[in-house]
Amino acid sequence: MKHITDFTIVRREQLGQHYFALTLRHPGTLPSIAAGQFVEVEVMGTREVMLRRPISIHDVNPAENTLTLLIQVVGKGTRQLATLQEGDTLNLIYPLGHGFSVEGRNPLLVGGGAGIAPLLYLAKCYKAKGVETTILLGGRTKELIPVREAFEPYGKLLISTEDGSLGEKGMVTQHSLFSAAYDHICTCGPTPMMKAVGRYAVEKGVDCEVSLENMMACGIGACLCCVTDTDEGHKCVCKEGPVFDALKLKKWMGIE
Ligand SMILES: Cc1cc2nc3c(=O)[nH]c(=O)nc-3n(C[C@H](O)[C@H](O)[C@H](O)COP(=O)(O)OP(=O)(O)OC[C@H]3O[C@@H](n4cnc5c(N)ncnc54)[C@H](O)[C@@H]3O)c2cc1C
Ligand code: FES
Repeated sequence: MKHITDFTIVRREQLGQHYFALTLRHPGTLPSIAAGQFVEVEVMGTREVMLRRPISIHDVNPAENTLTLLIQVVGKGTRQLATLQEGDTLNLIYPLGHGFSVEGRNPLLVGGGAGIAPLLYLAKCYKAKGVETTILLGGRTKELIPVREAFEPYGKLLISTEDGSLGEKGMVTQHSLFSAAYDHICTCGPTPMMKAVGRYAVEKGVDCEVSLENMMACGIGACLCCVTDTDEGHKCVCKEGPVFDALKLKKWMGIE
């Protein structure tokens, strides 16, 4: 069931130059949320932004009735959201989409850029099932990996940066511990990264889930602007995704 609710911003954290996090309190009781689901955020206070913006649910704290969003400033909507302060109200439609399965006993979570956002709550959900994860975060530079310590309670954290400013130098798929030793891979991030991770998993026969970040408008399957061509035909990423089994995205990944 989808909800539309005014949340109160109880914490705003600036994470370097490009990212900020908002922790939002529900006025009542937060409904159940699956890792990988997202919200559609209303952008108020500017005439330039008409449509809501899709943002992953980064963390959930049911005891506090809060959820947290991790946002990268890329354009006019996210720039406007960055002006919000503690005490302000933010209207969300949520929880949207189809999340991760939280399967596997030895999972690897691979995130890049703003795609690391859904992986924190995912790692927390694995931990709640008694499963330790390996979390591999990548970025061009260390400044583009805004959250690191938050992941540490949930598993083994690995980092790779293209310029070598943190962790191993190179792409996530070049990390020395990126291998087929895991029984399940979950990935979210830039499209070339997800395609490389998904292709590797399919070729090695490892279960893999890919969370797509197509451009969206309505977020509820009504406008068809987020459609992607899967191996099972055209699918609305907002409704039938954003998380898909990599085996259904072989065409998208360029596997014949
Ligand atoms: C399911 C889903 C979950 C997402 N989760 C997060 C998240 O947790 N944190 C986060 O920071 N971002 C997330 N995004 C991306 C976020 O929605 C966009 O960055 C945001 O809508 C851009 O709005 P804007 O008005 O600032 O940019 P605009 O002014 O609309 O666009 C600025 C630039 O960003 C590009 N852009 C806009 N949307 C996307 C997109 N979806 N993918 C790639 N490029 C885009 C545009 O082409 C343009 O070049 C998610 C997207 C989806 C679909
Ligand atoms: S965003 Fe409207 S159908 Fe997906």
